Amino acid sequence: MKKTAFLFLVFPLLTLVQAQAQSKEITVDSLGLVPLPLEVKTLEGRFTLPSKVVISAKTKEELNVAGFLKTYLTELGKTASVSPDAKLATIKLQIANTGSIKNPEGYQLTVGKTGVIITASSGAGLFYGSQTLMQLLPAKTQGTVSVPFVTINDEPAFKWRGNMLDVARHYFPVSFIKKYIDNLAAYKINTFHWHLTDDQGWRIEIKKYPKLTQISAFRKETLVGAQQRLKKPEDYRYDATPYGGFYTQQQIKEVIEYAQKRYITIVPEIEMPGHSVSVLAAYPELACKPGPYETRTRWGISEDIVCPSEQAFKFFEDVLTEVVQLFPSKYVHIGGDEAPKQRWSESDLVKDIMKRENIDDVEKVQGWFNNRIEKFLQSKGKKLVGWDEILEGGISPSSTIMSWRGEKGGIEAARHGNEVVMSPSTYLYFDHGQNPIPHNPLEPLMIGGYLPLMKVYNYNPLSSELTPEQHKLILGPQANLWTEYISTPEKAEYMLFPRLLALSEVAWTPYAKKDSNSFILRLGKQFPRLDAKKVMYRVPEPEGLSKEKVVLQGNKAMITLSSILPGSQIRYTLDEHTPNETTSLYTKPIAVPTNKNIRVRAVTITPNGRHSVPAELLIP
Ligand code: ACM
Repeated sequence: MKKTAFLFLVFPLLTLVQAQAQSKEITVDSLGLVPLPLEVKTLEGRFTLPSKVVISAKTKEELNVAGFLKTYLTELGKTASVSPDAKLATIKLQIANTGSIKNPEGYQLTVGKTGVIITASSGAGLFYGSQTLMQLLPAKTQGTVSVPFVTINDEPAFKWRGNMLDVARHYFPVSFIKKYIDNLAAYKINTFHWHLTDDQGWRIEIKKYPKLTQISAFRKETLVGAQQRLKKPEDYRYDATPYGGFYTQQQIKEVIEYAQKRYITIVPEIEMPGHSVSVLAAYPELACKPGPYETRTRWGISEDIVCPSEQAFKFFEDVLTEVVQLFPSKYVHIGGDEAPKQRWSESDLVKDIMKRENIDDVEKVQGWFNNRIEKFLQSKGKKLVGWDEILEGGISPSSTIMSWRGEKGGIEAARHGNEVVMSPSTYLYFDHGQNPIPHNPLEPLMIGGYLPLMKVYNYNPLSSELTPEQHKLILGPQANLWTEYISTPEKAEYMLFPRLLALSEVAWTPYAKKDSNSFILRLGKQFPRLDAKKVMYRVPEPEGLSKEKVVLQGNKAMITLSSILPGSQIRYTLDEHTPNETTSLYTKPIAVPTNKNIRVRAVTITPNGRHSVPAELLIP
């Protein structure tokens, strides 16, 4: 009798719950798309892919995009083929000038009863539509593969969606550069800024100057430990291991072609006149003071910069000639940052230039130097980009400024009418740490600073100090990965992910449409995709271990923990031990006495067994 009553009670309830679940609207967040498209309309129902999927494509660009979809569907266990006949197709790819898609990177994607259609006005738009479709498909093989019914109209907020990788402080192999580019493309980043030269290494083969790859590409050893924490050079220790490497022009061409297929522009950076000690190691005659010089083995800023001699102009023009022949990018980055003028102010050659050119301040000699380099680049049909220091020497109206020392330089440049890329270190330097505890010994060695995911997410490249007209000069945001302390691909990925996904949304989704709660929900769906691609993202620690989040109840502190990583476990300890699989599983808020000095430590353990660094909080 009791049992029957129970069934009676439960049955109608279950049916009700199921009915509600079925009629429940499919939310945009449940699709898990990053970056969030401009307009998404969800509909009830799903399109199930047949076991043999036909993708229709005819033109070169359509065929290029079809190739990526075919590969992805094959990985999902489908048999996919490409056909010029749209009538038979399950997925129709079409480049069409319908007039309704104005942005060349925009697209329309519809999934309905008869299949999928992606329309764009260019290959790039079609590619981004296909990336969105891949995010609607499962992350890995499943029996049946289906896609939710949806209509998406999308286009990017910014045309420069950038990421920089420093390969000078540490060298990364071509295979990793390709994986890196794949990940940028998956999140609709379209500009890869390749920081190819610095004091610690020159990484691009230049045929006319073979010593750049024989000498400048190598340093005799590398500093051990975090330089910023060592007060005096006597404290420095080195690893006594020669280090280096470079990319041949053939490899560079291969990477450029790889990126082009993914609609990514590679902007090369050749640093000048500072951050060039590796050049002086091979060609000391380019310095103001006789050498010898050696490729730097530690980090920081060197006073030994290239002297602005005719010989130096010839050197940089020769180098840039080979660079512009390789890279189709309209923009060429010439660095220009952190060039102390000590050597220049002592140099007779520079004094002569100042007299001849009527320059009253040695800083302005860099402006004169840049203008000559810019004219040279313009003669090759290129545009100059430089770090915001290039403003200090006087700036030509046609240079593009990359604002890294905050937004100040970018704001000033936009007021002058110059184009700007916003890359403020406080929001977009991914060499900065992700742990709230400074120099937490449980984190890998890093440069310091604290740049959590949501600080990146909430960044707005359009400063309120600028007018709407000036906003048009902000090309977009860029995040930078400096690699003094990043010597392996795994660590590069640890620093990049998940913050790159926040950058992706800063760059693609209009600021007014961004929503951090929605982002966290959608981000959760991206972790299995990163797992499938073997990306070693930093596993986010549990949320909730901060003073502001603790709720006091009498003599207890109530601690509520959560993870942004769906399906993960939270394990914790209250006894100073490091939490792991064997320690308490978090299931409900923890009550911690406030009279005992108890340290709460908690880790996230992902479904595939990876652990976060513990988060911790001392109570009281
Ligand atoms: C820079 O971070 N020195 C551009």
